[in-house]
Amino acid sequence: MNELELLVDFHIKADRQGPGSHHDTLKALSFINIDSGKTLKIADIGCGTGAQTIDLAQELNAKITAVDLFPEFLEKLVANSKALGLEDKVTTLEKSMDDLTFGLEEFDIIWSEGAIYNIGFEKGIDQWKRFLKVGGYMALSEITWTTATRPAEIEKHWNTEYPEIDTASNKMHILEKHGFSPVGYFYLPESSWIDTYYKPMQERFDAFLKTHKHSETAKAIVEAEKDEIQKYLKYKKYYSYGFYVAKKIM
Ligand SMILES: C[S@@+](CC[C@H](N)C(=O)[O-])C[C@H]1O[C@@H](n2cnc3c(N)ncnc32)[C@H](O)[C@@H]1O
Repeated sequence: MNELELLVDFHIKADRQGPGSHHDTLKALSFINIDSGKTLKIADIGCGTGAQTIDLAQELNAKITAVDLFPEFLEKLVANSKALGLEDKVTTLEKSMDDLTFGLEEFDIIWSEGAIYNIGFEKGIDQWKRFLKVGGYMALSEITWTTATRPAEIEKHWNTEYPEIDTASNKMHILEKHGFSPVGYFYLPESSWIDTYYKPMQERFDAFLKTHKHSETAKAIVEAEKDEIQKYLKYKKYYSYGFYVAKKIM
């Protein structure tokens, strides 16, 4: 297996592929004024194995198109949807998030948890907004500085990894610039990093290394994740995923 295949194999075993939780998804949803009289059309972009897709399908009268680049993740989402009797609500689409060909103003809600960074927050909003009805909502979680200043080490790290990291006020400014009005914001609590993401990940390290016979690439993946966890534990005061819910005004 090459590195990408190993990464997919590592993350597919998890319930979620990034920080977040059932509670966070429902909290973000609570900011949206839902018209319960109609079937909503929702796109969930960068869905992974679809923890949040399932939450949305269970909560809403909706048809959800769940998009991801990796078919393995989508296959797991299809199986989970079937097991829960949600297959009529969830359709999957294997496609890159920067190459979507949805119809103009097709969706009531565009959802994306921990994934828009793959093309960048502003580019994602700019590209996806045309698929959303006026009066519709975007719900996006995105890595965010939670303080105005922070230690040089973590500032340098994130500015190298993802130069678009910024404070919530600057992210909201981007949403406003693109015709959205923010209606809700919160940042993910520590439990949504540790309990639902990092702890289950740590529990998979040994089995993953064993399965892949401690190959150099597998070891490098585990070391990179351990390093990420250490950074988070040291600097969790300064960053998190911010959850942005914004209404398309124009
Ligand atoms: C951090 S994971 C988040 C997954 C899921 N939303 C969650 O919170 O558990 C990011 C997801 O984006 C997907 N992804 C990466 N690049 C992509 C692209 N260009 N187009 C579509 N999906 C992509 C990955 O396969 C992965 O499932």
